[in-house]
Amino acid sequence: MRLLVLTDIHANLSALEASLTAAEGSWQRLICLGDVVGYGPDPNEVTSRIRELGAVTIRGNHDKAVAELMPTDDFNPVAKAAVNWTRSQLSNENLGWLAGLPQGPLEAEGVVLVHGAFQDEDEYVFTPSQALEGLLDSTSQVTFFGHTHHQGGFSYQDPELEVLSLHPRTNESRCALRLEDSKRYLLNPGSIGQPRDTDPRAGFAIADLENHTVEFWRVPYDIAGVQKRMRDAKLPEPLVLRLQVGR
Ligand SMILES: [Fe+2]
Repeated sequence: MRLLVLTDIHANLSALEASLTAAEGSWQRLICLGDVVGYGPDPNEVTSRIRELGAVTIRGNHDKAVAELMPTDDFNPVAKAAVNWTRSQLSNENLGWLAGLPQGPLEAEGVVLVHGAFQDEDEYVFTPSQALEGLLDSTSQVTFFGHTHHQGGFSYQDPELEVLSLHPRTNESRCALRLEDSKRYLLNPGSIGQPRDTDPRAGFAIADLENHTVEFWRVPYDIAGVQKRMRDAKLPEPLVLRLQVGR
């Protein structure tokens, strides 16, 4: 079973469609690690598309905030403005679907899904020390996480925790990780709709556990078109500008 793993789509339909086109024919089951909406201009279109594709989806902090399942006191003003705009745009049906998304960790298709950290869905995992508990506690050899919008990951084989560089070069569209039976993995497929690792291309992963490989992809998309829709919607300018620099 080949899994297409997406996260942090953030209502960016152009990035989602470019990724689906690039990955066409390479996967059988879709997995989404949350933040379906927030920041981007296409919340209904992206939510409907993910529903229609039958993706196994867990909630992210933006999905929760939009569905009023968490306060936005900790959100910066720009993120808060985007949450409010997103809520005003969503159909009741899509809002209801987002509100009903399960919380990670969730075991599905032989992997574990979390939005942020294994122990706390809203915590960020950037460093080895932040990754360690998830690597030790997860119920699966491979755990996928999102939230940081950084493509990459960690592996663990007692006593060594390794930071994995899993990022295709600028002139390449993918790189592959070979899974070793003796190791555990915590992997971030990268953000579809708002990358923050200095590569503005949409990021995702394709996992093939039977063949012990996970591919990490980057795909270009029409950033200018998305920026125009964001400006038309009067979404905050810093959110518009960051798409082209990928941070
Ligand atoms: Fe996010």
